[in-house]
Amino acid sequence: MATTFKPFSTLNFLASLLIILQCTTTLAQAPPPGPSGPTNITKILEKAGQFNTLIRLMKVTQMSDQIDTQLNNSNQGMTVFAPTDNAFASLKAGTLNSLSDQQKVSLLQFHVVPTYLTTSQLQTVSNPLRTQAGDTASNKFPLNVTTSGNQVNVSTGVVDTTVSNSIYTDGSLAVYQVDKVLLPMSLFGPPAPAPAPEPLKKKKSGAGDDVPATNDGSASADASDAIAFGSCFSGLFTGTVAFITALYL
Ligand SMILES: *[C@@H]1O[C@H](CO)[C@@H](O)[C@H](O)[C@H]1NC(C)=O
Ligand SMILES: *[C@@H]1O[C@H](CO)[C@@H](O)[C@H](O)[C@H]1NC(C)=O
Ligand SMILES: *[C@@H]1O[C@H](CO)[C@@H](O)[C@H](O)[C@H]1NC(C)=O
Ligand SMILES: *[C@@H]1O[C@H](CO)[C@@H](O)[C@H](O)[C@H]1NC(C)=O
Repeated sequence: MATTFKPFSTLNFLASLLIILQCTTTLAQAPPPGPSGPTNITKILEKAGQFNTLIRLMKVTQMSDQIDTQLNNSNQGMTVFAPTDNAFASLKAGTLNSLSDQQKVSLLQFHVVPTYLTTSQLQTVSNPLRTQAGDTASNKFPLNVTTSGNQVNVSTGVVDTTVSNSIYTDGSLAVYQVDKVLLPMSLFGPPAPAPAPEPLKKKKSGAGDDVPATNDGSASADASDAIAFGSCFSGLFTGTVAFITALYL
């Protein structure tokens, strides 16, 4: 009887060895490598020409850095609607100057979608499309895309315009030219429902009322390490039991 089961136990033993081996490999694995080269949105817009105002605005609001970093660190990709210099020039005089720094950031975020959309994907997105500016409520930052034939229109509730050109696509970043600045309802919508209040700067806390800093990132990393170790430990345990059983049988 014991002899009959011996090959079975050996298999079990080998399988356990495999589990141990796999666990060890998993623990030793380096984090997955990022995408090849970092993308530079500024360079892309410079090369395309006629986007000097956008480049300047992206610089002062640090959107260009943010886009580059986000592209480098996520695999969702991004889509940017890029208004031309003419688009900015045809805004009512003083439009940009009337915006606070935070509002300029929102305006630019409204031109950035945190996913890569090809032209055909753009034509089938569900409305409203969520931008980096966030809240798509009708008085906030809704952005609708409509299509007729090959024409892709973008509507904010304040302006309607057409995607007039695809400037750049690399499978991760898509940049589409628009001939109007996409003015969001939140900042330019009619019967201005009391402009968004300036975000209150958090009072600098004194030494006395310091709250201990937490680090969620490392905490969750610790937790998953613990889990990995836990399952490896049980793998080792199973392996040992199988080994002993195999010897015994
Ligand atoms: C991106 O390109 C611009 C202009 O070509 C340059 O000034 C900037 O330093 C570049 N950014 C990075 C992170 O390399
Ligand atoms: C891009 O990501 C890699 C790996 O995540 C990182 O080492 C590198 O510093 C990043 N580069 C930039 C320009 O953010
Ligand atoms: C798109 O916008 C153009 C004008 O910019 C307009 O003539 C056309 O009817 C619009 N098409 C759709 C589907 O909204
Ligand atoms: C955008 O689309 C949504 C959903 O179809 C619709 O409710 C909303 O009125 C549209 N807004 C604009 C400005 O076209």
